[in-house]
Amino acid sequence: MISRNDPCWCGSGEKWKKCHYPDMGLAKARPVVDLKNEYRSKYDIIIKDDKQIEGIRASGHLAAKILDSVCHMAKAGVTTQELNDYAEKLHKEAGAIPAPFGYGNPPFPRSICTSINEVICHGIPDERVLVEGDIINIDVTCIFNGYYGDCSQMVSIGKVSEERQNVVDVSYECLMRSIAILKSGIPVSAIGDVIDAYATSKGCSVVNQFVGHGVGVEFHEGPQIPHYRNKNGILLVPGMTFTIEPMINEGVREAVINSKDKWTARTKDSKASGQWEHTILITESGYEILTPWKRHLFG
Ligand code: MF3
Ligand code: CO
Ligand code: CO
Repeated sequence: MISRNDPCWCGSGEKWKKCHYPDMGLAKARPVVDLKNEYRSKYDIIIKDDKQIEGIRASGHLAAKILDSVCHMAKAGVTTQELNDYAEKLHKEAGAIPAPFGYGNPPFPRSICTSINEVICHGIPDERVLVEGDIINIDVTCIFNGYYGDCSQMVSIGKVSEERQNVVDVSYECLMRSIAILKSGIPVSAIGDVIDAYATSKGCSVVNQFVGHGVGVEFHEGPQIPHYRNKNGILLVPGMTFTIEPMINEGVREAVINSKDKWTARTKDSKASGQWEHTILITESGYEILTPWKRHLFG
């Protein structure tokens, strides 16, 4: 939570209580429209208004609900294609569109991403059957009334090795610990600081070829949210919506992208990778998780 004596998020150098603190008359405060324009033109960041926030919240809640349902289906004997088809059905029933389908170049060929074991992200659902000992990341992004909500979870299939469970647990902690420090006025780099410190303290590495991102009006907006140490000094401000989605490896951080499908990203040393994702809103007083999934432990 931001406190009244913290520096204001607008970068004025004033205390929050003397600057953009709600209902203070804003005598010295920088007009919020200037800030919005600056963030848009300089950083490609869309600071959302109340109507957009309402739309992104609805989309995020739906994405989280679909994700929870698909995670419950992830068990030994089920194929990732079946998870994909179930997700598709849930999107349709809700009047939503799965954002991954047809996204990018070459167009992503399925409606969700399913990334197993050494796959870091962007795994493509296929006839691969889940077996005991697998760990899988399921990533759901829906477009609902034109707004995007993006989230993912890991599921451990039956009993998994200590090494694999470690990346599942460490990546979860990285996400939740970095969310816990969020408030307006802190730089983007504070997120990577928390994640890098925790992951390396547990003997893991942090992927640096993929990042979190602004989200809501588009699938991928500014700013990029690195999960590793960085020097991005852009200050978080109320109305920003972005993902945090740390990819944490048991071995080396390097990712290798499949040269045939141009999507599937694997660890260079084939050791396990874990990832969890939330879409977050920065508020006047702190933050709100817009994709409130419930951690699903074992399938
Ligand atoms: N949902 C992923 C993310 O968190 C992006 C997937 S892009 C896709 O940013 F095309 F592979 F779906
Ligand atoms: Co994302
Ligand atoms: Co995602």
